[in-house]
Amino acid sequence: MVMLTYMDYINQLDQNSHESYALVNPHTKEEIVRIPECPDDQMEKAIQKAEIAFGKMKSMPAYERSEILDRSARVVSDYKNLFAETIAKESGKPMKYALGEVDRTVQTLKFSAIEARKLEGESIPLDAAPNGAGRDAYTIFEPIGVIGAITPFNFPLNLVVHKVGPAIAAGNSIIVKPAEKTPLSAILLREALVEAGLPEDAYHVITGDGPRLGQVLLKSNVIKKLTFTGSPEVGREIKSQAGLKKVTLELGNNSALYIDKSQQDRVKDIAKQAVTGAFSYNGQVCISTQRIYVHKNLIDPFLEEFKSETEKLIYGDPLDQTTDLSNLIDEPSQERLLEWISEAEKSGAKIVTGGTQVNGGLKPTILKDVKPESKIYKEEAFGPVVIVNTVESGEEALESINNSQYGLNAGVFTNDMKQALQFGHELNVGQVLINDLPTLRFDHMPYGGRKNSGYGYEGVKYAIQEMVNRKMISLNYTF
Ligand code: SIN
Repeated sequence: MVMLTYMDYINQLDQNSHESYALVNPHTKEEIVRIPECPDDQMEKAIQKAEIAFGKMKSMPAYERSEILDRSARVVSDYKNLFAETIAKESGKPMKYALGEVDRTVQTLKFSAIEARKLEGESIPLDAAPNGAGRDAYTIFEPIGVIGAITPFNFPLNLVVHKVGPAIAAGNSIIVKPAEKTPLSAILLREALVEAGLPEDAYHVITGDGPRLGQVLLKSNVIKKLTFTGSPEVGREIKSQAGLKKVTLELGNNSALYIDKSQQDRVKDIAKQAVTGAFSYNGQVCISTQRIYVHKNLIDPFLEEFKSETEKLIYGDPLDQTTDLSNLIDEPSQERLLEWISEAEKSGAKIVTGGTQVNGGLKPTILKDVKPESKIYKEEAFGPVVIVNTVESGEEALESINNSQYGLNAGVFTNDMKQALQFGHELNVGQVLINDLPTLRFDHMPYGGRKNSGYGYEGVKYAIQEMVNRKMISLNYTF
């Protein structure tokens, strides 16, 4: 087995770069390595090479693409600790979550391998039209070409794989522009895929300034699709400039949960789960549990348990297996959250726990009685801050959850079947989780948002559908 390392690829990128920046561990603040700031022409060269590699990819049979993906899942699994430590060092994600991310990555690759073999078209009954008789028709799917992917810092491996796995499964090539703060996992993943047999130029990682390199991707006629995970502001900009390129956008959310009065026997258990939903990886997750609505009958036992479990969380070094929370990705994120907490307090919110700093990090914070006008309610927190508001009824909770600019995941705990179905039908979100937190994602499920949460779908099979062109072939057998 070869030794996987990101250094060879960084050295290769470095040969064409005149500038570089320091990649800093968010916990120790120490430099991990210098990352090349790739010039535009290097991105253009990578796009050209990816276009040539697309020639190989599109003629590679499905079983071969599937085998490469399967083998890469094994490579990632064999190097689980290296991947997890890389995630932990560059993103500050505690090891217990980084290891979980690697496991999910293996799953995403395996699902991609399965889906590569299942790109099935359909038969079209052209004779359903009066003058269509005498023809058989069917559809096939063709890869679209070179895909440009822009990925965020919070899942530096699995959210890259959510774009790379489907792209390869469909027979495309791909250029990834990872978040400036977390490029190493994407590079290691490339090494794993190449080790598994992927043609080298079918997957490039380009490092450096997001907006500048994003423009190169947007302007290139070779790039046929852009897939982006990040903020709604950048997502809108990409969509407005994308012209005829296909676009998938996974944007933010201020995910909500309702706990119904029927949950008195389970309220403590739900409170424990909610601690994970709100504070895993410091809440830097698009579907982090941010707004919790609790029926008035259960608010006291819920808050008591939620507060006590939250206060048990251990702050520390991400590389330590016992750590639950560490520093946010950067200082400005922390300052923004402290400002939002103080704004909410000024308009009447109460701090149940947290609200201050600990060893340079932000303590996990629970706020109650937060006004809907507050930023911490309206915007995506993307940090360890959660709101708990009391509601009089399920109807009020439904209305409050829908009162959001976002619509990705929402959850409801209830024993009332009618209420469960009502939430299922009336919540204006992409995914409704009944008797689960909104912070739930399996890598093969459809995953897409409404309103400011996004455009298009991810989840391996659904991402593939957005990375292919459908072609219909008709055979006139009477001519
Ligand atoms: C995200 O934060 O965008 C993805 C969440 C997940 O995959 O669990």
